[in-house]
Amino acid sequence: MSTIDSVLTETRVFQPPAELVKQANISGMAAYKALYEEAERDFEGFWGRLARETLQWSKPFTKVLDESNAPFYKWFEDGELNVSYNCLDVHLTNGNADKVAIIFESDDGKTTKVTYRELHARVCRFANGIKALGYKKGDRSIIYMPMSIEAVVAMQACARLGITHSVVFGGFSAKSLQERIVDVGASFIITADEQVRGGRTIPLKPAVEEAIAMGGCEAVKKVIVYRRTGGNVPWVEGRDLWMHDVEQGQPDTCEPVQVGAEHPLFVLYTSGSTGKPKGVQHSSGGYLLWAALTMKWTFDIKPTDVYWCTADVGWVTGHTYITYGPLAVGATQIVFEGVPTYPNAGRFWEIIQKHKATIFYTAPTAIRSLIKAAEASPDHHPKKYDLSSLRIIGSVGEPINPEAWVWYYTNVGGERCPIVDTWWQTETGGHMITPLPGVTGLKPGSCTLPLPGIFAAIVDETGADVELGKGGFLVVKRPWPAMIRTIWGDPERFKKSYYPEELGGKYYLAGDGANRDADGYFWIMGRIDDVLNVSGHRLGTMEVESALVAHPLVAEAAVVGRPDDVTGEAVVAFVVLKRARPDDAEAAEIAKELRNWVAKEIGPIAKPKEIRFGDNLPKTRSGKIMRRLLRVVAKGEAITQDVSTLENPAILEQLGKAL
Ligand code: PRX
Repeated sequence: MSTIDSVLTETRVFQPPAELVKQANISGMAAYKALYEEAERDFEGFWGRLARETLQWSKPFTKVLDESNAPFYKWFEDGELNVSYNCLDVHLTNGNADKVAIIFESDDGKTTKVTYRELHARVCRFANGIKALGYKKGDRSIIYMPMSIEAVVAMQACARLGITHSVVFGGFSAKSLQERIVDVGASFIITADEQVRGGRTIPLKPAVEEAIAMGGCEAVKKVIVYRRTGGNVPWVEGRDLWMHDVEQGQPDTCEPVQVGAEHPLFVLYTSGSTGKPKGVQHSSGGYLLWAALTMKWTFDIKPTDVYWCTADVGWVTGHTYITYGPLAVGATQIVFEGVPTYPNAGRFWEIIQKHKATIFYTAPTAIRSLIKAAEASPDHHPKKYDLSSLRIIGSVGEPINPEAWVWYYTNVGGERCPIVDTWWQTETGGHMITPLPGVTGLKPGSCTLPLPGIFAAIVDETGADVELGKGGFLVVKRPWPAMIRTIWGDPERFKKSYYPEELGGKYYLAGDGANRDADGYFWIMGRIDDVLNVSGHRLGTMEVESALVAHPLVAEAAVVGRPDDVTGEAVVAFVVLKRARPDDAEAAEIAKELRNWVAKEIGPIAKPKEIRFGDNLPKTRSGKIMRRLLRVVAKGEAITQDVSTLENPAILEQLGKAL
């Protein structure tokens, strides 16, 4: 672990508009500080109060936090609730029943709306159907679906029955899917025939078939298929069922299964610094509490808002800020099937205009690509659309560079919408460090201040606080209700990854380097481990390396990240073949083959942007690959670091030239 120092040069501060402050759920700095201080003064009292006020418990909890087996913290443990009940049933009697829950915008621009009453009925019918197949609390399902109302229904139906779901992003390969099916021990899969993105259909069911054929999936007895396109897909009689047939004839109500607050709502796989993705296990009570609270705090959600989060349900953002958070607070939200550039680069702005969206939440990589697109095709510039309905805009997934921030603020937010630059992770369950729209003065590129109850800090290698302005490791000093509970099936890895001995085992180590300025604002400097962030997607360098070396031609591979204008980071792979280093013409061929191979092993998001071939890799005398040097080579910069420990310094020149 190395400390990251950086120069903080950004000085502009953008204050929230007075109108917004006046009506905000947390209004003004004094209100924020009061909450923060309440949490400091009476930590358990604070969380207990919020959990009682925010959620409906079928059995109230008597104890807020159990730290006796730290870092395996337990929250509200003897309390019972049902997540789906809290997202749907509560709205049948509070005046929201006929409110639109989801506005679905399909790839080809068709709109479908469902009210809370209709969504409740659909979830109940599907849950009843799943129950009729014999599935019950404690079982695990895999959900491999496109962005759709049906994906939300599937997740909510599992939650209703106490079935732990594990959603796999539709862009992951059959191999990635198989690994997750096996690791989580799924006994059924919910998928779709095909997905539709950018005018193209992409098969999903065939990938499920392929995954099952790889073996280890014997526990899977049923595959439920949402018919999205009606395309021809492989079918196994007796095992496969259409989603509409499973729902058919089922009653519109389904008794929610009450679960303990710690019951695992879902397991979501994410990349770590070692090869195998980790199954991040989340709870029911603490997780839902934070999903609902952060909707109120960060997005300042109000009954009249039209909220839109562009994430996919395959990522944590889609879990917390599509499937669970917005429904828990009775919001109207847009769910979008397609991509930002189809049929043209004005698609996002057109959707905002069409549905009068008031809150818009997207990723810096999308913003950066749309900046480029708007420059190339001025007709699709956000200025050409009426975006005056917007009041809050947000960013998530990676650091947003100040240029992109200012463009977003000016052209999308019309210089009146605060940008909530939300720092968080799959493991944190919800927002951790973020501006509040009615509170925080904004500095482009800074995620500003931690939310009330979140004791974020920056420490050095020994776990000691660093002074302001001095970079270090981002940690969270106290537990919080939505935190990761464990890594599915691997508690030791959980402890080692997040509560390492070096830091005394008492702080949550986020894996990000960060800095704090004189105002106490946090600036995220990126990962400190071997994890890349490509288009806001997490990728382990070891994961890509393992995929590469699995190819019969490859002897050795090292993967590093290189800064990229659009994707934030790009994957660069250095490869040694089992045979001689290829000449230029051959190299292009083999590189293409390897890129496709990685797409098949992991998914298209992991494809290296560039592959360079060498006779060897830079190694220390003890045989360790020096990735630090490869990062410099990947950027095309000259090596200025000390290379005296290097066994074979000449290789750097070869790899530097091998463009
Ligand atoms: O490096 C941080 C970056 O994304 C990582 C978490 O990735 P993941 O678990 O896939 O979750 C993404 C969606 C929450 C973090 O360790 N990251 C996320 N949000 C920000 C960020 N970096 C800077 N600023 C952010 N707002």
